Amino acid sequence: MPIKVCVFDAYGTLFDVAAAARIAAAEPGRQSLAKAWPRLAEDWRRKQLEYSWLRAVMGTHADFWQVTQDGLDWALDASGLADPALRDRLLALYRELQAYPEVPAMLAALKRAGLETAILSNGSPEMLEGAVRSAGIGAVLDDVLSVESVGVFKPAAPVYRLVTDRFACPAAEVLFVSSNGWDAAAGAAYGFRVAWVNRSGLPLDRLPGRPHHILSDLTTIPDIATS
Ligand code: LAC
Repeated sequence: MPIKVCVFDAYGTLFDVAAAARIAAAEPGRQSLAKAWPRLAEDWRRKQLEYSWLRAVMGTHADFWQVTQDGLDWALDASGLADPALRDRLLALYRELQAYPEVPAMLAALKRAGLETAILSNGSPEMLEGAVRSAGIGAVLDDVLSVESVGVFKPAAPVYRLVTDRFACPAAEVLFVSSNGWDAAAGAAYGFRVAWVNRSGLPLDRLPGRPHHILSDLTTIPDIATS
C-alpha cells in the first residue's frame, strides 16, 4: 500500500533532546556542566520517559511539561547540580530545542512529493508549538498531534489511533518515524510502516512490533516514503 502520510515522533527524532544540556555546558560560568552534561542529559531523558510510563500505569497522568521538569529535577539531584538558575536555563533551552540539521529539507521534500506530514508526540501542545516555531518547520507540517487529546502517553494504542482518525486512512498508509525503539515497536504493532532512526546504534527492543527500516538519520525518509 503506498504511503500517504508521514508522521514523526518529536523529542529525539526531529528535535535533539541532548541539545539543552550541551548548549548550557558551553555557556560562560558553567564549568560544573563541562564533564557532567552527557550524564545529566541521559538521566533527564531516561527519567522523563520512565515517569511518563509509570504515570500511565499508575493512572496519574500529568502533562509532558510536568514530567520533563520532574525528570530534570531528579537528574540535577543525581549529579549534585541542583540550582534554580541552571534549572530555569535548561528548561528554557528545552522549550526551544534545535531540530537535527536534515529535518527542514527532509520535510520539504515530503511535501513536494505530495505527502501529508505530522508530528505525533507526548509533548503538550504548548511545548510542541514552541519547538516547531523555533525550528521553523510549521509550514512543512500539516498537523501537530499531542497525546494530551487522549490523556495517556505513548505507547498506549489510543495515541497511535489519533493519526488514523485525523488522516482517515488505514494504518498501512502511514510511515511512522521514531528514534525511540519502544515507540517504533508500538507503531509497527499498531500497523504503521515504521522507520526507526537509530542514531546511536542501539540493539533492537524486544517488544511486540518490528520496524521495517532502521536508519542512522532522517535523510532517506523521502525515498522510503515514495518507493
Ligand atoms: C515524544 C517522545 C516520546 O516526542 O520523544 O513523543
